[in-house]
Amino acid sequence: MAFVVAIDGPAGSGKGTITKLVGEKLNLVNVDTGAMYRCVTLDCLRKNILPEELEKIEKVLEKIDIRFEKNKEKELVFLNGENVTEEIRSTDVNLNVAKFAAVKIIRDKMTPLQREMGKKANIIMEGRDIGTVVFPDADVKIYLDCSVEERANRRYKQNLAKGIETTYEEVLASIKERHRLETEREVAPFVQAEDAVYLDSTNLTIEEVVKKVVEIIENKKNA
Ligand code: DC
Repeated sequence: MAFVVAIDGPAGSGKGTITKLVGEKLNLVNVDTGAMYRCVTLDCLRKNILPEELEKIEKVLEKIDIRFEKNKEKELVFLNGENVTEEIRSTDVNLNVAKFAAVKIIRDKMTPLQREMGKKANIIMEGRDIGTVVFPDADVKIYLDCSVEERANRRYKQNLAKGIETTYEEVLASIKERHRLETEREVAPFVQAEDAVYLDSTNLTIEEVVKKVVEIIENKKNA
């Protein structure tokens, strides 16, 4: 196995931004596993398939092809050859992804794909179950936390910047509901790995979090 850094944390904790920046700094390939669950969700939504329709989901999974590509500054996500980078962040996908991510056959398909990526390159992988299920033997595990109010605040500001009309209360309610679904599901529930380093980003800037994560990784490399 190559060098693997696992970053787990709730939605809005800054995982995506931090993982990208740390990956660039330390030359680690960054993998956003949430994007993979979003691709499956989008594929099912487009085909009007519900999370309970396991036979239909099975068919979708047989054919699914998810790829990441780095284009200049941007990470692009391709679903069956189509660039879905923007669409996997749509409100429709946001509202449904936690339900699809709780489906066992979907996780059973994604987990080995994620493990394969860790064989091919030194990676920094972000998600919910990377340090617990996907790479229980990861070289470095970090649990990136943040208060639910601050997470909602960040998402709310992102929405405003993107021109998406929502209220802070709506964003807060949706983040709380997603967290409930993720932590209460039966398969790979979202929990902190016992041996993960806990890092709370609530009152830290992006630069401060990046610095801390880099320090944790470098210390481990030099240990
Ligand atoms: O990180 P994100 O918000 O893009 O994740 C999208 C959804 O996928 C979210 O509901 C949590 C789920 N997810 C998961 O269950 N396991 C992962 N390793 C990554 C994401």
